[in-house]
Amino acid sequence: MDTPICDFVRSYRQKESVRLHMPGHKGKTLLGFEDYDITEINGADSLYEANGIIMRSEKNASKLFGAETFFSTEGSSLSIRAMIYLACLYSYSKGGKPLILAGRNAHKVFTSSAALLDFDVEWVFSKNSSSYISCPITPEETDEKLSTLKKKPVAVYITSPDYLGCVSDIKGIADVCHKYGVLLLVDNAHGAYLKFLPESRHPIDLGADACCDSAHKTLPVLTGGAYLHISDSAPDIFKSRAKDALALFGSTSPSYLILQSLDAANNYIFNGYRQELAEFVADVSDLKNKIVGYGYSLIGSEELKITVDTKAYGYYGSEFSSLLEEKGLVCEFSDLDFVVLMLTPQLRDKLKLIEEAFAGIEKKPPIKERAPSIAEPQRAMSIKEAYFLESEVVDAENSCGRVLATSNVGCPPAIPIVVSGEIISGQAVNCFKYYGIEKCLVISK
Ligand SMILES: Cc1ncc(COP(=O)(O)O)c(C=O)c1O
Repeated sequence: MDTPICDFVRSYRQKESVRLHMPGHKGKTLLGFEDYDITEINGADSLYEANGIIMRSEKNASKLFGAETFFSTEGSSLSIRAMIYLACLYSYSKGGKPLILAGRNAHKVFTSSAALLDFDVEWVFSKNSSSYISCPITPEETDEKLSTLKKKPVAVYITSPDYLGCVSDIKGIADVCHKYGVLLLVDNAHGAYLKFLPESRHPIDLGADACCDSAHKTLPVLTGGAYLHISDSAPDIFKSRAKDALALFGSTSPSYLILQSLDAANNYIFNGYRQELAEFVADVSDLKNKIVGYGYSLIGSEELKITVDTKAYGYYGSEFSSLLEEKGLVCEFSDLDFVVLMLTPQLRDKLKLIEEAFAGIEKKPPIKERAPSIAEPQRAMSIKEAYFLESEVVDAENSCGRVLATSNVGCPPAIPIVVSGEIISGQAVNCFKYYGIEKCLVISK
């Protein structure tokens, strides 16, 4: 598969032209790769008006993913804002203020989009949730919620896979959504690779109308590289306005380093990635079996994640993560309950090391303490209102009864416990304490 963006930059570097254009480093190195970093010079195309090398590379990605695929150099964060804007545009074209029904574990970029775009949100909770980070809603839960809503949402928005590696039944949920004439949008930030499994588990193949993938999370792509995929089933406005939607929120200086990385990934995927992934997934599955054999409990059904319920093995997640770190293994995420390891075929030669590390940690009596559950929220005002009213910082332990202004969770996992505009309950205060959240921004009295 050709790599038009990489080829263009390579030939530009070879010319050794005097760079009388941005960026200010002029190709001279402080870090060692600055001469790859260009801007929209003649022939380099322009991300949001692509009709040259970027368009060609996006078409290559579209062929690989079987969708209309657009590049983001600002992560899934940008793709999500764009995807939701498109859903809002569609809703307004039908004459209604947008309402989106979302799984409660939505990443905070979803809630900040609600502030930017002022759409209404209804939440759907899952009975199978093992933590506020996870909300693997079922088709039945989606159906039940859709059937009780007085106003039909323009879209259902779910996060799958979630941070803990739980994957929803997207096909079942898509069928339910489409039965009600509602779109299905998927935050597939953690699942770009799902497309290339022996049997695709990618949302677009399972009936989603649009989704985002963070290429940088599971493919060998620089941080920031991501896709917005639009299915044939999506309303026409999604394809025709996708670039406008991305441009609305994106920087006017998209990174050509990231674009080259996405371009190179097309060729990497085309040249044997499926086979490499199939073999690696089989090896990871063996590793998971061995880890379970050592007495660990794993959760989630995602092929490239290992999520350990560390309390069942006698450790808090953060404690267990430190033990792994002492052995030279740095995890993606840990909290009190879980440790999450993200693997890709780039770690092929490290699987033995991971197994040995797990084998070398002594099992202790299980820790019985459970994460506090989260009550169904009570909304005092819209998300947008909460972002714009006067606010003040209070100690989280004294925040009960106050209305949250903006979300107080960092990344990872960047999933709000309480969403802007909601009244902070006693249960939420317990959660803040449990997850080590000390301060909250609340609406001033
Ligand atoms: C579930 C989920 N969605 C969206 C995002 C945002 O993705 P990005 O970092 O590519 O902007 C993240 C980031 O961690 C995430 O975990």
